[in-house]
Amino acid sequence: MSMKLHGSLFELAGGEETFRKLVRRFYAHVADDPVLRAVYPEEDLSGATERLTLFLIQFWGGPQTYSNLRGHPRLRLRHQPFAIGQAERDAWLGHMTAAVDSLDLAPAIRKALVDYFETASTAMINRQPAPGPEEPG
Ligand code: HEM
Repeated sequence: MSMKLHGSLFELAGGEETFRKLVRRFYAHVADDPVLRAVYPEEDLSGATERLTLFLIQFWGGPQTYSNLRGHPRLRLRHQPFAIGQAERDAWLGHMTAAVDSLDLAPAIRKALVDYFETASTAMINRQPAPGPEEPG
């Protein structure tokens, strides 16, 4: 037997306010992390904050403002210019998980978000580390 959830995760999680808080907290961590800060081209992270907030609102079933402003997300393509290896992915996911855990969410909502961020952040890896001396080629 399966349970049907009524309402989008966007609504169940608390709507726009929740996602604004989540991404604000996430980028506060990014600003203090030298590994990640180096990846972001702009000094001012407010544009990046707004884009990620609108994307997540859209992804989880809220208003489609992100695509009205930015078009199709094509996230892997949009991340290609930024060097994202395992270290950057792990830092990103660590900060996002901390930001999720700072919200007072129901366990099922928390798990849906963390599972998604885990998969999505892995998919964004686009650079391999340079081979070590003991690994020819
Ligand atoms: C894996 C580690 C990741 C790193 C290091 C990273 C880094 C970046 C950087 C440097 C930008 C450009 C900043 C800007 O928009 O001004 C960006 C944009 C963006 N990222 Fe990530 N990102 C990561 C993972 C993710 C994941 C997992 C998602 C989605 C769940 C995501 C969603 C976005 C979105 C929506 C934008 C704005 C795209 C646009 O409209 O131009 N990123 N990211």
